[in-house]
Amino acid sequence: MELQTSTSIGEIVKKDFRAAAVFERYGLDFCCGGKKSIGQGCAEKGIDPEKVLSDVVKLQNAAGRVENFDAWEIDFLADYIINRHHSFVRSQLPVLSAHIRKIISVHGERHPELFSIGGHFEGVQAELTRHMHNEEHILFPYIKRLIDIRSGRFPKQAPPFVTVENPIRVMEIEHEEAGDAMKQIRRLSNNFMPPEDACTTYRVCFAELQEFERDLHQHVHLENNILFPKAIELEKQVNS
Ligand SMILES: [Fe+2]
Ligand SMILES: [Fe+2]
Repeated sequence: MELQTSTSIGEIVKKDFRAAAVFERYGLDFCCGGKKSIGQGCAEKGIDPEKVLSDVVKLQNAAGRVENFDAWEIDFLADYIINRHHSFVRSQLPVLSAHIRKIISVHGERHPELFSIGGHFEGVQAELTRHMHNEEHILFPYIKRLIDIRSGRFPKQAPPFVTVENPIRVMEIEHEEAGDAMKQIRRLSNNFMPPEDACTTYRVCFAELQEFERDLHQHVHLENNILFPKAIELEKQVNS
């Protein structure tokens, strides 16, 4: 892939998922803000785009097996997202919530920002639980059904939401909201950096929050930049 500063960040990650780690390092958003070009993203952050590009090129030249999510059929990708990312979120939400409650009770007085972190995380927990339920019960089954319609295994049927673009728009807004809440948690936690007096649970909790954010970025990238645009395309194809 020819890399230029005009290439979009999401497009690069779509072709080589390892680039996500480079963008994470520079604080460049590759999921909700993935439509932005490298040049634009870097200008906003005051970063040299050539440096970012050279790091991505270095990585692309490195050996190693790269999962080509963009080549997968979308029913398989939808199942992968559920099995890998939704199950990770479901397993981590109660663990993180318990750890946050614990560090608030022990350290909240000396570190009052923990109360705000707890508030933001409660919001993420409620929102993501509802959001994933809607994806698994409404949007993803419809996307998988489109494959059956295309192959003739199922007759054409108008969805209750008129076009897949409608629920996708809602999902994208919700991704943005969850991403913003995690950004607030990152800011309040000083980039997930525990203070000097932090106990083990405090440190573990911040490391878990950082991993949760990293996983959420990958999860949202697969939906916003690969699954959703392909579903919109496929719907147009079966309706033409
Ligand atoms: Fe999802
Ligand atoms: Fe989602």
